[in-house]
Amino acid sequence: MKIDVAFTPYELEKKDLQGKSVVVIDALRATSTMIVAFENGCSGFIPVSAVDEARQLAALKKDPNLLLGGERRAMPIEGFHLGNSPRDYRPEKVRGKVVVMTTTNGTRALLAARKAEEVFIGSFLNISALTGRLEEVSRDVIIACAGEKDLFCLEDTVCGGGIIDGLEKGGVPILTADAAMAAKVLYEYYENDIYGMLSGCAWGQYLESVGLGKDVRICAQVDSSRLVPVYREGKIFLDR
Ligand code: MLT
Repeated sequence: MKIDVAFTPYELEKKDLQGKSVVVIDALRATSTMIVAFENGCSGFIPVSAVDEARQLAALKKDPNLLLGGERRAMPIEGFHLGNSPRDYRPEKVRGKVVVMTTTNGTRALLAARKAEEVFIGSFLNISALTGRLEEVSRDVIIACAGEKDLFCLEDTVCGGGIIDGLEKGGVPILTADAAMAAKVLYEYYENDIYGMLSGCAWGQYLESVGLGKDVRICAQVDSSRLVPVYREGKIFLDR
Protein backbone atom coordinates (compact mmCIF):
# COMPACT_ATOMS: atom_id res chain seq x y z
CA MET A 1 0.00 0.00 0.00
CA LYS A 2 1.44 3.35 -1.06
CA ILE A 3 0.74 6.29 1.28
CA ASP A 4 1.11 9.95 0.48
CA VAL A 5 0.09 13.16 2.25
CA ALA A 6 -1.22 16.40 0.74
CA PHE A 7 -0.59 19.17 3.26
CA THR A 8 -3.16 21.47 1.59
CA PRO A 9 -6.15 21.20 -0.82
CA TYR A 10 -3.99 23.02 -3.37
CA GLU A 11 -1.47 20.13 -3.23
CA LEU A 12 -4.27 17.55 -3.31
CA GLU A 13 -5.59 19.05 -6.56
CA LYS A 14 -2.20 18.28 -8.14
CA LYS A 15 -2.32 14.57 -7.25
CA ASP A 16 -3.82 11.65 -9.18
CA LEU A 17 -6.75 10.43 -7.06
CA GLN A 18 -7.89 7.67 -9.41
CA GLY A 19 -8.34 4.35 -7.59
CA LYS A 20 -7.14 5.83 -4.30
CA SER A 21 -8.65 6.05 -0.83
CA VAL A 22 -8.50 9.64 0.37
CA VAL A 23 -8.79 10.56 4.05
CA VAL A 24 -9.87 14.16 4.62
CA ILE A 25 -8.69 15.59 7.95
CA ASP A 26 -9.65 18.91 9.53
CA ALA A 27 -8.78 18.05 13.14
CA LEU A 28 -9.67 21.59 14.29
CA ARG A 29 -12.55 21.43 13.81
CA ALA A 30 -14.73 20.49 10.82
CA THR A 31 -14.18 16.71 10.53
CA SER A 32 -14.13 16.32 14.33
CA THR A 33 -17.45 18.17 14.50
CA MET A 34 -18.91 15.89 11.81
CA ILE A 35 -17.96 12.78 13.78
CA VAL A 36 -19.52 14.17 16.97
CA ALA A 37 -22.66 14.99 14.95
CA PHE A 38 -22.91 11.41 13.63
CA GLU A 39 -22.43 10.08 17.17
CA ASN A 40 -25.44 12.29 18.09
CA GLY A 41 -27.69 10.90 15.36
CA CYS A 42 -27.08 13.32 12.48
CA SER A 43 -27.97 11.69 9.12
CA GLY A 44 -25.47 13.44 6.89
CA PHE A 45 -23.62 16.46 5.57
CA ILE A 46 -23.56 18.17 2.19
CA PRO A 47 -20.31 20.14 1.93
CA VAL A 48 -20.39 23.31 -0.17
CA SER A 49 -17.75 26.01 -0.65
CA ALA A 50 -19.73 29.26 -0.43
CA VAL A 51 -22.23 30.69 2.08
CA ASP A 52 -24.64 31.74 -0.69
CA GLU A 53 -24.47 28.28 -2.22
CA ALA A 54 -25.56 26.79 1.10
CA ARG A 55 -28.47 29.22 1.41
CA GLN A 56 -29.58 28.58 -2.19
CA LEU A 57 -29.48 24.81 -1.73
CA ALA A 58 -31.60 25.01 1.44
CA ALA A 59 -34.07 27.38 -0.26
CA LEU A 60 -34.32 25.04 -3.24
CA LYS A 61 -34.90 21.88 -1.20
CA LYS A 62 -37.39 23.41 1.28
CA ASP A 63 -36.76 20.39 3.52
CA PRO A 64 -37.44 20.84 7.27
CA ASN A 65 -34.80 18.14 7.92
CA LEU A 66 -32.12 20.15 6.16
CA LEU A 67 -30.08 22.54 8.34
CA LEU A 68 -27.40 25.11 7.56
CA GLY A 69 -24.07 24.79 9.39
CA GLY A 70 -20.61 26.30 9.16
CA GLU A 71 -18.25 29.12 10.06
CA ARG A 72 -16.10 31.98 8.94
CA ARG A 73 -13.16 32.89 11.17
CA ALA A 74 -14.52 30.13 13.46
CA MET A 75 -17.69 32.12 14.11
CA PRO A 76 -21.23 30.97 13.21
CA ILE A 77 -22.62 32.43 9.96
CA GLU A 78 -25.56 34.80 10.28
CA GLY A 79 -28.91 33.06 9.73
CA PHE A 80 -27.42 29.55 9.90
CA HIS A 81 -28.82 26.97 12.35
CA LEU A 82 -25.43 25.71 13.52
CA GLY A 83 -21.83 26.92 13.69
CA ASN A 84 -18.78 24.65 13.47
CA SER A 85 -18.43 23.89 17.17
CA PRO A 86 -18.89 20.19 18.06
CA ARG A 87 -20.93 21.49 21.03
CA ASP A 88 -23.57 22.88 18.63
CA TYR A 89 -24.30 19.41 17.19
CA ARG A 90 -26.31 18.06 20.14
CA PRO A 91 -28.77 15.15 19.70
CA GLU A 92 -31.85 17.36 20.12
CA LYS A 93 -30.57 19.59 17.31
CA VAL A 94 -29.22 17.16 14.73
CA ARG A 95 -30.91 13.77 15.17
CA GLY A 96 -32.28 12.73 11.75
CA LYS A 97 -31.09 15.96 10.14
CA VAL A 98 -28.86 16.61 7.13
CA VAL A 99 -26.55 19.63 7.38
CA VAL A 100 -25.46 21.74 4.41
CA MET A 101 -21.97 22.69 5.64
CA THR A 102 -19.51 25.36 4.59
CA THR A 103 -16.25 25.99 6.43
CA THR A 104 -13.05 27.76 5.48
CA ASN A 105 -10.72 24.79 4.98
CA GLY A 106 -12.53 21.52 5.80
CA THR A 107 -15.19 21.68 3.09
CA ARG A 108 -12.59 22.97 0.63
CA ALA A 109 -10.51 19.83 1.21
CA LEU A 110 -13.59 17.63 0.83
CA LEU A 111 -14.52 19.17 -2.49
CA ALA A 112 -10.91 18.78 -3.69
CA ALA A 113 -11.09 15.04 -2.85
CA ARG A 114 -14.27 14.31 -4.81
CA LYS A 115 -12.62 12.43 -7.69
CA ALA A 116 -11.13 9.73 -5.46
CA GLU A 117 -12.37 6.14 -5.47
CA GLU A 118 -13.43 6.48 -1.86
CA VAL A 119 -13.27 9.38 0.59
CA PHE A 120 -13.21 8.85 4.35
CA ILE A 121 -13.67 11.42 7.13
CA GLY A 122 -10.85 11.41 9.65
CA SER A 123 -9.84 13.08 12.91
CA PHE A 124 -8.24 12.08 16.21
CA LEU A 125 -11.72 10.99 17.41
CA ASN A 126 -11.87 8.01 14.98
CA ILE A 127 -8.18 7.46 14.16
CA SER A 128 -8.01 3.72 15.01
CA ALA A 129 -11.38 2.87 13.44
CA LEU A 130 -10.32 4.70 10.29
CA THR A 131 -6.97 2.89 10.17
CA GLY A 132 -8.86 -0.40 10.39
CA ARG A 133 -11.10 0.63 7.50
CA LEU A 134 -8.08 1.55 5.32
CA GLU A 135 -6.51 -1.84 6.06
CA GLU A 136 -9.76 -3.50 5.03
CA VAL A 137 -10.13 -1.74 1.66
CA SER A 138 -6.32 -1.82 1.17
CA ARG A 139 -6.10 0.65 -1.69
CA ASP A 140 -3.27 3.17 -1.98
CA VAL A 141 -3.99 6.09 0.34
CA ILE A 142 -3.70 9.87 0.20
CA ILE A 143 -4.10 11.76 3.45
CA ALA A 144 -5.67 15.12 2.62
CA CYS A 145 -4.99 17.79 5.22
CA ALA A 146 -7.39 20.76 5.21
CA GLY A 147 -4.55 23.07 6.25
CA GLU A 148 -5.12 26.78 6.82
CA LYS A 149 -6.02 28.77 3.71
CA ASP A 150 -3.83 26.52 1.53
CA LEU A 151 -0.91 26.70 3.95
CA PHE A 152 0.54 23.91 6.09
CA CYS A 153 -1.02 23.31 9.52
CA LEU A 154 0.47 21.11 12.24
CA GLU A 155 -2.66 19.43 13.64
CA ASP A 156 -3.91 17.79 10.42
CA THR A 157 -0.41 16.55 9.58
CA VAL A 158 0.09 15.02 13.03
CA CYS A 159 -3.30 13.28 12.73
CA GLY A 160 -2.27 11.95 9.31
CA GLY A 161 0.99 10.73 10.82
CA GLY A 162 -1.01 8.84 13.43
CA ILE A 163 -2.91 6.97 10.74
CA ILE A 164 0.36 6.01 9.00
CA ASP A 165 1.81 4.88 12.34
CA GLY A 166 -1.30 2.77 12.96
CA LEU A 167 -1.09 1.10 9.55
CA GLU A 168 2.58 0.28 10.10
CA LYS A 169 1.90 -1.11 13.58
CA GLY A 170 -0.95 -3.14 12.02
CA GLY A 171 1.67 -4.90 9.92
CA VAL A 172 0.46 -3.51 6.58
CA PRO A 173 3.43 -3.36 4.18
CA ILE A 174 3.47 0.32 3.26
CA LEU A 175 5.53 2.53 0.99
CA THR A 176 5.60 6.06 2.30
CA ALA A 177 6.16 9.15 0.20
CA ASP A 178 8.42 11.85 1.74
CA ALA A 179 5.40 13.83 2.95
CA ALA A 180 4.04 10.72 4.66
CA MET A 181 7.38 10.05 6.38
CA ALA A 182 7.48 13.64 7.63
CA ALA A 183 3.92 13.34 8.98
CA LYS A 184 4.81 10.13 10.82
CA VAL A 185 7.86 11.72 12.45
CA LEU A 186 5.70 14.64 13.65
CA TYR A 187 3.16 12.20 15.09
CA GLU A 188 5.88 10.30 16.95
CA TYR A 189 7.00 13.61 18.48
CA TYR A 190 3.52 14.61 19.71
CA GLU A 191 1.74 11.25 20.21
CA ASN A 192 1.83 11.40 24.03
CA ASP A 193 0.32 14.88 24.23
CA ILE A 194 -2.26 15.39 21.50
CA TYR A 195 -4.19 17.94 23.56
CA GLY A 196 -0.97 19.89 24.17
CA MET A 197 -0.23 19.88 20.45
CA LEU A 198 -3.77 21.01 19.55
CA SER A 199 -3.88 23.79 22.12
CA GLY A 200 -0.37 24.95 21.13
CA CYS A 201 -0.82 25.03 17.36
CA ALA A 202 -1.77 28.28 15.61
CA TRP A 203 -5.49 27.50 15.06
CA GLY A 204 -5.81 26.03 18.55
CA GLN A 205 -4.48 29.25 20.05
CA TYR A 206 -6.85 31.27 17.88
CA LEU A 207 -9.85 29.18 18.97
CA GLU A 208 -8.81 29.70 22.60
CA SER A 209 -8.52 33.46 22.00
CA VAL A 210 -12.10 33.69 20.71
CA GLY A 211 -13.54 31.66 23.59
CA LEU A 212 -13.73 28.26 21.83
CA GLY A 213 -11.06 26.52 23.90
CA LYS A 214 -13.51 23.81 25.02
CA ASP A 215 -13.73 22.68 21.39
CA VAL A 216 -10.00 22.00 21.33
CA ARG A 217 -10.39 19.57 24.23
CA ILE A 218 -13.25 17.76 22.42
CA CYS A 219 -11.16 17.50 19.22
CA ALA A 220 -8.36 15.91 21.31
CA GLN A 221 -10.49 12.93 22.42
CA VAL A 222 -8.45 10.23 20.65
CA ASP A 223 -10.50 7.15 19.67
CA SER A 224 -13.71 8.38 21.31
CA SER A 225 -15.60 7.17 18.22
CA ARG A 226 -15.67 3.98 16.09
CA LEU A 227 -17.56 5.72 13.29
CA VAL A 228 -15.97 6.21 9.84
CA PRO A 229 -18.15 8.48 7.70
CA VAL A 230 -17.72 8.33 3.91
CA TYR A 231 -18.16 11.06 1.29
CA ARG A 232 -19.86 9.83 -1.90
CA GLU A 233 -21.80 11.61 -4.63
CA GLY A 234 -21.81 14.95 -2.84
CA LYS A 235 -22.96 13.63 0.55
CA ILE A 236 -21.23 12.51 3.77
CA PHE A 237 -22.97 9.65 5.58
CA LEU A 238 -22.43 6.44 7.52
CA ASP A 239 -22.38 3.48 5.08
CA ARG A 240 -22.51 0.89 7.85
C1 MLT B 1 -12.08 25.07 8.85
O1 MLT B 1 -12.73 24.36 8.12
O2 MLT B 1 -11.36 25.95 8.43
C2 MLT B 1 -12.12 24.89 10.34
O3 MLT B 1 -12.88 23.80 10.65
C3 MLT B 1 -12.53 26.17 10.92
C4 MLT B 1 -13.00 26.11 12.33
O4 MLT B 1 -12.35 25.56 13.20
O5 MLT B 1 -14.06 26.64 12.55
